[in-house]
Formats: sequence, C-alpha cells, structure tokens
Amino acid sequence: MGVRFKGWGIGLPDRIVTNDELSLTLDTSDEWISERTGIRQRYVGGTARSLGVIAGRNAMADAGVEPEDIDFCLLATTSPDRMAPATAVLIANDLGLTCPAMDVNAACSGFMYAVRVAQGLLETGNKRILVIGAEHLSKWVDWTDRNIAVLLADGGGAAILEYDPDVNDVLSFVLGADGSGADLLTCEHEGTFTMDGREVFRRAVRVVVDSSQRALELAGITADDLALIIPHQANIRIIQAVADRLGIGMDRAVIALDRYGNTSSASIPLAFDVARTEGRIKTGDYALLTGFGAGMTWASSVVKWS
Ligand code: COA
Repeated sequence: MGVRFKGWGIGLPDRIVTNDELSLTLDTSDEWISERTGIRQRYVGGTARSLGVIAGRNAMADAGVEPEDIDFCLLATTSPDRMAPATAVLIANDLGLTCPAMDVNAACSGFMYAVRVAQGLLETGNKRILVIGAEHLSKWVDWTDRNIAVLLADGGGAAILEYDPDVNDVLSFVLGADGSGADLLTCEHEGTFTMDGREVFRRAVRVVVDSSQRALELAGITADDLALIIPHQANIRIIQAVADRLGIGMDRAVIALDRYGNTSSASIPLAFDVARTEGRIKTGDYALLTGFGAGMTWASSVVKWS
C-alpha cells in the first residue's frame, strides 16, 4: 500500500554537555567514552513535550501541512512528561491539532514501532500521520552512575507519513519483543535507568542482524542494494558489529551519536536529519532503518525514498 514519508523535523535542547564536562563529576574520561561508545557530546534539557513540539512543528513545515491536515498524532517516548494524560495529547494541543493522539512506548525501538502503527492507521483510512520520537531521558538518569550517564541524552525528531496510492516508501517491517530481557535495561517509577551493558550489547547485535536480514528478504533486496543503514544510535561499536555482519561498509552507515548520544525514540529521526544535511538521502535509494531497545524490543524496516 502507498505510504510516503512527506517531511521531517528535529528539536533539541539548548545545552550541550561534552564528555570533558561529565569527567568533572564522574570517574570517566573523553578518551574512554569516545573509544567505547563513539559519543563526544549530548544535548540535555527540555521535556518530551517541548522537544516533541519543536520537532513536530518543523516536520509539519517541512511537509507544508497545516494542523487540520493531520489525522493522527503518535508520540514514541520512554520518558513521558506525566503518567496521564499521554504526552502526545499535550504536544497535539501545542501544535493546534484536534486529531486523536497517543503515546507509544517501545523504548529505543519506539520511533520504528510508531511508524508501523502509522502504516496501519493509513491502511484504515487516515490520510496523514504525525509521528514524533521525543525523549527527556536526563530526568531518569542517575548522574553519579557512569554506566548510564555517559550514554543517554535528550532530543526529538518527527516525520509526516502520508497515504499516497502512487508510491510506497515502506517495503518491509520486522518487529519483535522478548520480555525475558526486561531487567537488562530498566527504569522503575520514580527510579533511574539501570543496565547490564555487556548483555544488552550482545543481544542488540543479534536481534538487529536477524531482523535486518529478514527485512531485506521481505523487501526482495540484498545488503548490496542498500544506499544507507540508519540504525538506532546507542554505541558505534554496536553499529560496526551489525554493519560488519550484514556486509555493509561503515561508509553507508549514518552516525549521529557522536553529537547526540543515545536519544532512544528520537535517535532514528535525528540520524535521518544528519543524513539529509549531509546530502545522503536520494530519491529512489533503499535504506535500512533499524532499532532496538529495552524490553528487549526491535524493529527493522527497508524503505525506498520517493
Ligand atoms: N568511564 C570509564 N570507565 C568505565 C565507564 C565509564 N563511563 N563505564 C564502565 N567503565 C569501566 C568498567 O568499570 C570496567 O572497568 P574494569 O575493567 O576495571 O572492571 C571497564 O570500563 C570495562 O567495562 P565494560 O562494561 O566491559 O565496558 P564495555 O566495553 O562493555 O562498554 C558500554 C560499556 C556500556 C559502553 C557497552 O557495554 C555498551 O554500549 N553496551 C550497550 C548499551 C546500550 O546500547 N544501551 C542502550 C540500548 S538501547
């Protein structure tokens, strides 16, 4: 069926925190963080609502659509502003939308899960969906825990998905969840994130490679046909391991974590924005979008930019 990416936008807090700044209060160093993760700095501040609003507004402007053109607002977030109402409702109100709005929480796979939900909504008669990924993870970070504090960050990204009978950008989707890994990366109510980094790393590589291979098969293409891989931005070593196993050179991988850190649901649209800014998004090209996160959850999709 005809699903088309129509416009994209991002939203970032004002404050940049460098690795050197973290080293002032944590037993860590720029050298360790850069070498082990690829992260050099991250943005901290705002809220899921405020960052989602900026990203959503920018995506709507990019697509040239007005509030009344949007039929549904989906927010992927792991760090909603409130238990209730859904942060998507607050964002929709700020953007002047009166359409249905709801949150989707699939941790760092959230943006891709929301795109999948949007695809279903377009199949059932909606014309245009605003899909946002926005996170205020810094609120849920223990800033004395170097295992987590060097990784997580704040940010927002958004896309408009539109029904268009003449094109189809989304060629395949493979999603999954394995709740046996629930305690590997977790955050309780009023708590902070904890993580078994090594095990998350190991499982992440496996599920991303498996789901990506399946998504390529379903799309009827091979890794050689891909112009780009736009992966979730958690750790450059995970991206390298995945690219290596899929036979994709790192020159085809989009890297945004060096400047943004791990922004969970916002990371794939932020990486898309980097690719576009670098002139790497070209009409007719195939790209693999792939995410993984707490749950564990995963989601891989082959797209062809129209
Ligand atoms: N600064 C300095 N040293 C650190 C550190 C930090 N921020 N964090 C851990 N260390 C130390 C450890 O204490 C350990 O010291 P030791 O050898 O004296 O015991 C050493 O560095 C190696 O720790 P290890 O956990 O083996 O490092 P690693 O290479 O596995 O890297 C992660 C740690 C967290 C970066 C890595 O495991 C990772 O990225 N995992 C995936 C996490 C992820 O992607 N989460 C999000 C999923 S959406």
